[in-house]
Amino acid sequence: MSKKLKPDWAGEDLLSRFVNLLIQTEPIYKIMKHQARQTIIKTAEKNGIPWRQNYEKLEKSGVKQYLATVTNPKVSYPNYYKVPFHAYSEGNLCWQAAFEAPSATYSMALRVWKNEPLTWEVAHNRLRGSFHNVLSIYGPKQVRDILDIGCSVGISTLTLHRYYQKTQNHPVRTVGLDLSPYMLVVAKTLDTNNEISQWLHALAEDTNLPNNSFDLVTMQFVTHELPQEPSRAIFQEAFRLVRPGGAIALVDNNPKSQVIQNLPPVLFTLMKSTEPWSDEYYTFNLEEELKKVGFEAPLTVESDPRHRTIIANKPVSNFN
Ligand SMILES: C[S@@+](CC[C@H](N)C(=O)[O-])C[C@H]1O[C@@H](n2cnc3c(N)ncnc32)[C@H](O)[C@@H]1O
Repeated sequence: MSKKLKPDWAGEDLLSRFVNLLIQTEPIYKIMKHQARQTIIKTAEKNGIPWRQNYEKLEKSGVKQYLATVTNPKVSYPNYYKVPFHAYSEGNLCWQAAFEAPSATYSMALRVWKNEPLTWEVAHNRLRGSFHNVLSIYGPKQVRDILDIGCSVGISTLTLHRYYQKTQNHPVRTVGLDLSPYMLVVAKTLDTNNEISQWLHALAEDTNLPNNSFDLVTMQFVTHELPQEPSRAIFQEAFRLVRPGGAIALVDNNPKSQVIQNLPPVLFTLMKSTEPWSDEYYTFNLEEELKKVGFEAPLTVESDPRHRTIIANKPVSNFN
């Protein structure tokens, strides 16, 4: 474990400011964006994730027609959400992002255990398993209602739902919530057995869901994509939604991880160029912010070499 609280390439450090300057230089950014995409696709395909085939399958499936059914017309998109993201100029609000998201999600797990010859399936199971394992030890014991915030194409939602369905001796109701209706169309499509109760198009800061209606609210790999202010607002909203005795559980990049701190310059530059809120995330004290909105005693576990899981409970005495 490193003594540094965050990588030098994030925040106000000289290295970070230099990287930001590079990224803000339009011709350099364009080259990097292209380079980042090519590297990601090539690495995925080399590891057996048929990136372009998966894309074409969804593109030809006719799912685009469901956009209107999934879209909540009352939702408006905050500015931080409309900036280019992951090398997509429309961020998460486009078909390309949604059709590539399943492959991108599976590729993420491969980066965690780079030095081990794992298949992407094994890596993905291990990644989700490490989160579920922390939940099984420190999370709520009775879980009937789950909300997965920032569910994207629903892979996190389905694996979490199946985990609790298997381990609880009663039915579990799970809701996946996301701000991108494109992602939700794909989530609905991949949920072939309708295991998830609802795929909800909403702003996580203002969900319109009832008070105290979930035992567990999760945010899996979401906070690093957010500026600090919306993260605070989402924690506040999550506190309202969680039942007393229930919990919020987050898993995301670990600023203290040696792997993350020692990323080669090319990789962290590419990462920062495609994730605009990195500096805000790596300088944000999630545990403190969870306490500020009312959660008690957040517990942080290094759930794998790159990520940390944070679990915080809503006090039983606090009826909101
Ligand atoms: C990296 S993806 C999450 C991946 C997914 N949870 C998993 O583990 O596979 C982040 C998601 O958060 C969603 N998101 C970002 N800001 C949001 C907000 N304010 N409200 C709801 N969803 C949001 C994005 O649309 C995106 O789909």
